[in-house]
Amino acid sequence: MATLADSPIAFETLAHPAPTPANERAARIAEPGFGTVFTDHMVSIDWDEVHGWHNAKVGPLEAIPLHPASSVLHYAQEIFEGLKAYRLDDGTMALFRPEENARRFNASAQRLAMPELPEDLFVEAVRRAVAADKDWFPPVDGGSLYIRPFMFATEHFLGVRPAKNYKFLVICSPAGNYFKSGAPAVSVWVSDYTRAAPGGTGAAKCGGNYAASLVPTKEAFALHHDQTVFLDAAEHKWIEELGGMNLFFVFDDGTMITPPLSGTILPGITRDSLITLAREEGLAVREERYSIDQWQADAASGHLVETFACGTAAVVTPVGTVAGREHNFTIGTGGPGQLTGRLKQRLVDIQRGKAADPHGWVMKLD
Ligand code: PLP
Ligand code: COI
Repeated sequence: MATLADSPIAFETLAHPAPTPANERAARIAEPGFGTVFTDHMVSIDWDEVHGWHNAKVGPLEAIPLHPASSVLHYAQEIFEGLKAYRLDDGTMALFRPEENARRFNASAQRLAMPELPEDLFVEAVRRAVAADKDWFPPVDGGSLYIRPFMFATEHFLGVRPAKNYKFLVICSPAGNYFKSGAPAVSVWVSDYTRAAPGGTGAAKCGGNYAASLVPTKEAFALHHDQTVFLDAAEHKWIEELGGMNLFFVFDDGTMITPPLSGTILPGITRDSLITLAREEGLAVREERYSIDQWQADAASGHLVETFACGTAAVVTPVGTVAGREHNFTIGTGGPGQLTGRLKQRLVDIQRGKAADPHGWVMKLD
């Protein structure tokens, strides 16, 4: 693995002229919630056809001047990633499976006709961003530094074709709980809208997918639900995923189902990790289609005992109730299930260095 000393390209470090004073920083990270507090620094790297990746910098977090014709503003050529840095009990900082984010970032880049970033450069940029803001870890239970690497098209051109200039940035946001409510289980709304269709961009982590999910999300929030469940585009029958999380269904016979990576859902790194951990616990995990009607029937019969959502931001979150135009049901007692709690603990213990890491998922940074 690359270290700060053998970086694939040279990074310039720009001193911050006015870093946030320690007392103000402490106040901002005391109750960070999700996505509202930002650290002092960012990493940026540019790409063009002549130089490839160049102009790598670690510097102050600042506004980016954009020409009004920048193609990202018109045709949404943008992709992103989400991963977290943790402070382990011994004080060291660690990332969880960052190479997987690097790989998925390039899969997204391919789908959006953007240049790929060498995986070691992606990881290096993330490491440098965290190192620059190592004092911003929130001291709250479950706190982490949420890292948002992203890339967008900066060429000034209004014709519709892949741009010739891009910017890659990494910003960091101290994070606590993703869900504000703090409820033990979330309530989800089954949307009539579709998030992604076969042949579309559902498996890519591009901003456009999230733009398309905002009307359904607004609808879910208006009805006092926490997240939207999306069904498949063709039959509107098969469960795909939530707006920002994958789903798992747990049955009374010790089996689990999670929707398959059909090309229309995001291949979650948390999803992949939990499949591995569940199988190690002796659970039979099937990646197969599961319909909304079956979900309701199995919840009613008691065959389905738990459902949980998972993702970097949400970690592992129990789903308690499900509602839609044609559905309305409670899962188990509507609260967190035992297996959900156990799998979450297994994952979090590995992420935080409290349990053995047999798969080498944790990358220590110090
Ligand atoms: N599905 C969607 C649509 C997401 O935005 C996310 C979050 O990144 C996930 C699933 C979970 O992916 P991961 O576990 O890699 O964070
Ligand atoms: C994540 O879990 O990292 C996500 O990107 C989900 C959401 C915040 C977009």
